[in-house]
Amino acid sequence: MSTISIEKFIEGIPKTELHLHIEGTFEPELMFKIAKRNQKKIPYSSVSELRNAYQFKNLQEFLDIYYAGANVLTTEKDFYDLTWAYLSKVQEQNVVHVEIFFDPQTHTDRGISFETVIKGIRSALEDGKKKLGITYKLIMSYLRHLDEASAFKTLEQSLPYKDWISAVGLDSSEVGNPPSKFERVFEKSREEGFLTVAHAGEEGPAEYIWEALTLLKINRIDHGNRCLDDETLVDRLVDLQMPLTLCPLSNVELKVVADLKQHPIEKMMQKNLLVTVNSDDPAYFGGYINENYLGIAKALNLSKEQITTLVKNSFKASWLSDQEKEKRILEIDQYLKENS
Ligand code: HPA
Ligand code: ZN
Repeated sequence: MSTISIEKFIEGIPKTELHLHIEGTFEPELMFKIAKRNQKKIPYSSVSELRNAYQFKNLQEFLDIYYAGANVLTTEKDFYDLTWAYLSKVQEQNVVHVEIFFDPQTHTDRGISFETVIKGIRSALEDGKKKLGITYKLIMSYLRHLDEASAFKTLEQSLPYKDWISAVGLDSSEVGNPPSKFERVFEKSREEGFLTVAHAGEEGPAEYIWEALTLLKINRIDHGNRCLDDETLVDRLVDLQMPLTLCPLSNVELKVVADLKQHPIEKMMQKNLLVTVNSDDPAYFGGYINENYLGIAKALNLSKEQITTLVKNSFKASWLSDQEKEKRILEIDQYLKENS
């Protein structure tokens, strides 16, 4: 039996990512390249100056920069290049399946058509499946700082592409924009056949997680850290085996936790919550999926068994078929046996 380092163990294990905003994978180098070809201005003189601006006190400070960056995306090719760059990057990290968000309103509000956005993203995802062997699901996220009417309009625009989209989500500025604001549009989205997820309990209170569960009838919670403030809620999430898509490096960068050593993921595993590891907006938060796993593994001194449990949780929480899940879980158990 070989013994490999925790770094190599994390690199080699087949992984899935369930909480990833494609606009959050926009690396400064690609941003400058696309800005140049579209003759758009970025208010920073260089890649390093832009990277230095990535210091956030909270979610809103991040969102302001994230939306500004997304402004240079204009053509179908831009959305293709963005998505392809992400897939190429994570293939090197042994990611085999992704379930990713896109934010249509960030683009349609600037006059870019829904069609341009989704066609670019979708063709890269299809190429990723054929050429890189990465399977995928696509999640359309409503921006919660905008109103219900705008979300309904987005739902309408998405209907011709319904077969390409698995779920709807809810992201952007959380505090002051509770899930209840979107109860009706989520109801209509479910009627149209979409699965539902929502960011809840990242900065917002445990109450928002209750609302996401009971009003939006979600299939997964994005983040959900704040459930720990409410024992009854934790019990409910455990009973339901409701997946939580945690994002450790994001939590540190957005001051949701003080540092990785304070991250509650191990505590959450001990409570039998179905927690998963994800990268959220890797171009902004200093790491893709492997760096997220490695960060918590080192900070919390996690074992290979614990890492394996987290990876298996992600496959369980994914929307792969039961047969595909079973195949991946067997493969991962075998990987642990060979490398522990
Ligand atoms: N939270 C809310 N909205 C977002 C995030 C996030 O972490 N990333 C991109 N949009
Ligand atoms: Zn997110």
